[in-house]
Amino acid sequence: MQDLRNRFLEGMSRAATFVAVATTDGEAGRFGVTISSLTSVSADGDAPSLLACIHHLSPAATAILKNRAFCANLLHEDQQALSDLFAGRAKADAPARFEQADWHAGPEGQPVLAGATANFECRLATALLWETHYIIVGKVTSVWLSDQPAALLYGQRAYRRAVQF
Ligand SMILES: Cc1cc2nc3c(=O)[nH]c(=O)nc-3n(C[C@H](O)[C@H](O)[C@H](O)COP(=O)(O)O)c2cc1C
Repeated sequence: MQDLRNRFLEGMSRAATFVAVATTDGEAGRFGVTISSLTSVSADGDAPSLLACIHHLSPAATAILKNRAFCANLLHEDQQALSDLFAGRAKADAPARFEQADWHAGPEGQPVLAGATANFECRLATALLWETHYIIVGKVTSVWLSDQPAALLYGQRAYRRAVQF
């Protein structure tokens, strides 16, 4: 079983993903967490939708469920330090993370991080607890696009950038 888990982790480490920070603010407080699990669900429902998988013990996950809104901030390739900050690698507590980042509140009150290649402000549509992680689906209400479209990637356990063949 441990072997299956290790082979799964090694296999998934080969899937380079983009890196985002899911932020939230509201009655449960302001939190943010680095995620590689951001995925588009649909552009063609009542509103575009996306999903993120966040560990159930992450304070950001519980806060998103309570605040019923969040912002998915897709990081620019130069934002490794911001990724480390919101992954807890910089050892900053939840409020201190926001003091070290530039951000503004979007129309839904969600923290929109400056310098991201795209920001998607969402209302919580639904969430499902699957074993250790919440699968969180958001309905997108606003999108900000920077003029720097290169997204930060994470693959084979390191930050990477995409290069064109
Ligand atoms: C590149 C990268 C991607 C990550 N992706 C996820 C993810 O999709 N879901 C998740 O729950 N944690 C993910 N993590 C781990 C969390 O960022 C980290 O464990 C968490 O922030 C721990 O601190 P906190 O729970 O106190 O915020 C990722 C970390 C890194 C560095």
